[in-house]
Amino acid sequence: MLIEKKVINIKLNSQLYLKPEYDIHPIISGNKFRKLKYNIENLNKGNYSGILTFGGAFSNHIAATAAAGNILGIPTVGVIRGLELARNDKINPTLKSAVENGMKLEFISRKDYKNKNQDKFIKSLLKKYSEYYILSEGGTNNLAVKGCEEILSENDLIFDIVCCSVGTGGTISGIINASSSSQKVLGFPALKNPQIHKDICKFVKKSNWKLFCDYHFGGYAKVNSELIRFMNKFKMDFKITLDPVYTSKMIYGVFDLIKKEVISEKDKVLIIHTGGIQGIEGMNYYLKKNNFDLIL
Ligand SMILES: Cc1ncc(COP(=O)(O)O)c(C=O)c1O
Repeated sequence: MLIEKKVINIKLNSQLYLKPEYDIHPIISGNKFRKLKYNIENLNKGNYSGILTFGGAFSNHIAATAAAGNILGIPTVGVIRGLELARNDKINPTLKSAVENGMKLEFISRKDYKNKNQDKFIKSLLKKYSEYYILSEGGTNNLAVKGCEEILSENDLIFDIVCCSVGTGGTISGIINASSSSQKVLGFPALKNPQIHKDICKFVKKSNWKLFCDYHFGGYAKVNSELIRFMNKFKMDFKITLDPVYTSKMIYGVFDLIKKEVISEKDKVLIIHTGGIQGIEGMNYYLKKNNFDLIL
């Protein structure tokens, strides 16, 4: 079983509090822990040989699933988007750590990856990995959402607004389900996904939420020097490290909405830091190669 630690909100200023979900476990950080918790419980009830899941080169979910598999003695397979990543010189720290944690990587083309949710494609994978527990990209499914419902505690009902980053939509869905209807939940997609609103609607019934889709900085794992400056200043001001793929974009968005008075100064705001810090090493490797400022 994975053991979780209680996380305690950090006060940033009189208006803003941050929930350090990265503190929940030393290795399986943030929403990844929440998403895996009930899926692993379910896997343990069945006769599965391991977990097979999906992700991109920087995927926190791949890193976390590999680490959980290693801790719990469960074999793991990661189906990775991008055949070019199979070359040894392209293996980044995220994928390297997954391999070190015993995960077997199956690289597939970006074209094939688009079929990852189709029955025919899954059946072809199961021919090789029969009896594996299939966990969708980003680990999002009903059980993951159930786990993410535990992100908010009763004490968090004092907040008017709860903000979180959005990838596949599982995390925000859990937060929406656990919120009170007088609270507003604001989501900040970290990638361009025109389907995301629909995806979230599959898991939630409430309407107290809204997405702000202008803070993806060009797409998944794309950054610019403004974002990196923001992350480094945030770290200097609050001694909190943000990740370059998700939380930095969301918190940049929150600060911008406060500046533009879309979020009123009277609103008490809780920001969920969903972890992902493991991705910094890989991003810095890329930034250094392209002569960008590095993440501190
Ligand atoms: C650190 C981090 N924050 C937020 C998210 C977004 O979560 P979701 O895919 O459930 O929307 C992810 C991706 O899963 C993540 O790795």
